[in-house]
Amino acid sequence: MTGGAGFIGSHLVDRLILEGARELVVVDNLFLGSLDNIAAARAKGAVLYREDVEFPSSLEYIFERHDIDVVFNCATKALNYSFMNPSNAFATNVTGVLNLLELQRKGLFSTLCHFSTSEVYGTAVYEPMDEAHPIHPTTTYAAGKAAADLAVESYVRMFGLDAFIVRPFNNYGPRQNDSGPLAGVIPITARRIMEGGEPEIHGDGLQSRDFIHVHDTVDAVMQCYDALPAGESVNISAENCITIGQLVEQVAQLMGYTGPIVRKEGRGSDVACHNATSARLKELVGFTPMSFDKGLAATLEWYRDTKGAKA
Ligand SMILES: NC(=O)c1ccc[n+]([C@@H]2O[C@H](COP(=O)([O-])OP(=O)(O)OC[C@H]3O[C@@H](n4cnc5c(N)ncnc54)[C@H](O)[C@@H]3O)[C@@H](O)[C@H]2O)c1
Repeated sequence: MTGGAGFIGSHLVDRLILEGARELVVVDNLFLGSLDNIAAARAKGAVLYREDVEFPSSLEYIFERHDIDVVFNCATKALNYSFMNPSNAFATNVTGVLNLLELQRKGLFSTLCHFSTSEVYGTAVYEPMDEAHPIHPTTTYAAGKAAADLAVESYVRMFGLDAFIVRPFNNYGPRQNDSGPLAGVIPITARRIMEGGEPEIHGDGLQSRDFIHVHDTVDAVMQCYDALPAGESVNISAENCITIGQLVEQVAQLMGYTGPIVRKEGRGSDVACHNATSARLKELVGFTPMSFDKGLAATLEWYRDTKGAKA
């Protein structure tokens, strides 16, 4: 698993251990992931290499030392990073997957589950968005992801590799980064409130995202493994489209916050609308995601329990 010390990757690591994975190897340079996220998994035998997927020789070294069947490629640098270092955000997404595809082509592992993102679609030109929606990346992060998807598809066509693409919409849940410029909107809002600050909405708050709990994403990915043909992609969504304005208000309300919500300037290239259909996912696998209200309440409880004392 690349990026296995991050938010989604670490939950996938936990699930794979629960399902009885024979050996679990995590490759993560800890750019954003943390040792805390995989402490329990390491105690159960998962091995961490603090290495960079952009270096082919680092990957070769690891793959020669372990008998690896399947790679879940979660390594990425968060979308917000592409506003600070656009070129490297793009490069990480592209170089990482190319290095993996080369190793797969040489027979060092058999199956690749590559993590794309809803960001590759850009703003919805029709709703709900299915897998045939045009690819219109608005950031270099998304452009790198779109290029990575094309690389996977072309390697499958050229070399018959067993590789498929899962495309999650916005995830939320425990372990999502809650601090600094790369934080997710739910954890940073919770953190601001717990620290006695004011929640913020960037732009008009009408920009929408389609939110799914990380446990549902992991569940869907595990099921797609057997169901999704090579070279194909599937949206991973719970069909829960909400505006950022509504979301911040809901978080504030659930946390008992009654103060002002600060308005900040929006970012020019932010996606305006994400509203997904998970019809294909439901055709492929049995998928019944949890309700957003329940998932959000449980997530905020987790942040209160684990971070509240430190805030
Ligand atoms: N979180 C979401 O809402 C969301 C939505 C759609 C798609 N995705 C995709 O799911 C995957 C996991 O996302 P996440 O939210 O867990 O992100 P994350 O930032 O929490 O995890 C990514 C991990 O990759 C590691 N990493 C970064 N650069 C690396 C490199 N060069 N070499 C090795 N490791 C590196 C980071 O340290 C981090 O642990 C990503 O591919 C992302 O694009 C996430």
